[in-house]
Amino acid sequence: MNLGTALSPNATRALLLGSGELGKELAIALQRYGVEVIAVDRYANAPAQHVAHRSHVIDMTDAVAVKRLIALEKPHFIIPEIEAIATAALAEIEAEGLCTVVPNARAIQLTMNREGIRSLAAEELKIPTSAYAFAGSFTELKAAVDAGIGYPCFIKPTMSSSGKGQSMVKSEEALQAAWDTAKASGRVDTGKVIVEAKIDFDFEITLLTVRAMNVQGSIDTHFCAPIGHRQEHGDYRESWQPQAMTEKALASAQDIAFKICAALGGQGLFGVELFIKGDDVWFSEVSPRPHDTGMVTMVTQRQNEFDLHARAILGLPVNAALQNCGASAVILGGLDAEGVVYAGLAEALAVPDSDIRLFGKPVAYTHRRMGVALATAESVDAARLKAVQAANLIVIKTE
Ligand SMILES: Nc1ncnc2c1ncn2[C@@H]1O[C@H](COP(=O)(O)OP(=O)(O)O)[C@@H](O)[C@H]1O
Ligand SMILES: [Mg+2]
Repeated sequence: MNLGTALSPNATRALLLGSGELGKELAIALQRYGVEVIAVDRYANAPAQHVAHRSHVIDMTDAVAVKRLIALEKPHFIIPEIEAIATAALAEIEAEGLCTVVPNARAIQLTMNREGIRSLAAEELKIPTSAYAFAGSFTELKAAVDAGIGYPCFIKPTMSSSGKGQSMVKSEEALQAAWDTAKASGRVDTGKVIVEAKIDFDFEITLLTVRAMNVQGSIDTHFCAPIGHRQEHGDYRESWQPQAMTEKALASAQDIAFKICAALGGQGLFGVELFIKGDDVWFSEVSPRPHDTGMVTMVTQRQNEFDLHARAILGLPVNAALQNCGASAVILGGLDAEGVVYAGLAEALAVPDSDIRLFGKPVAYTHRRMGVALATAESVDAARLKAVQAANLIVIKTE
């Protein structure tokens, strides 16, 4: 495709719906091709807004506000970074044919609701997943657990992310509390929860999968090396690449990722979350966009997940190859405060082969991700040690 000049009448414009740390890196990747980037979030001075050409603050769940902004900015690409968006508005805009919703409105709609994506994967595509059921009341939930899902199980709001409203239940006594939590803390109360049997996995991975156009004009699917990660309270703490796994498990993982991404369609990068035990692989969920655990690719790949997403969106060729082992470790706020100060940068960056990204979020919360430490090494284990060491040397304080 032809690309215009940013800030001129022929600019190629990309509108980011959601402007967090992943959006910030994507904005930079797009700007490297001269794309004009407009960053939108629900609050001012979100990370991607620090580097975008223009910014807007709107309620992205408000269809009228989303449509008004799109009419004003006339983007060529609308790139959702988060799930909490008025997706029906995106479907309408896509139907008008004036711009591309990345990867497409249906994929955004299916993946924002656990019911949509789980039904597609398990029922239509026959991909292995945990045993699951949807429940609209506590009675239905209890019946589903008793009918075979059993304990331990996970209860999650059908619309939620980053572990919000999610609990693992080990016995009947804790079921009511899990129901109450899911009902109270979902992003949108769909009236339903998903209950999933706990998969007793050896490890979990994100398989970054790219659907990109080749020079003949058809779509190829590319896989990054698997990324291993450690989750705490439903949020990621450390990730590393490559995660060692058997050839058979890798082949199954790629087969599942191929099928799910092909069913979602469009061009872009997807983060396919999978559970692995020996040679067995279960699909968990998928993001039709860069994945937080994929931040490690900033130091492991020649083209990181943001470059890959940008290239795939723009119809450019990609190379998903791994260059070296690496790891990431998140830097949490540790306190609730505005305009925090970061100390220990020099000490952290003195860790060999390390790097630090500070996202510039205007407000810190105890569990909010404020930055990430990255490191490379000869082995994944060594890289993990360095990344954690660097992350721990950053001190966040009020002055
Ligand atoms: N059925 C399950 N079996 C085992 N672990 C699970 C299951 N569901 C979730 N988990 C754990 O919780 C984490 C977060 O769950 P996930 O469904 O990915 O929620 P979110 O959309 O908030 O990321 C997973 O990465 C995994 O560690
Ligand atoms: Mg997840």
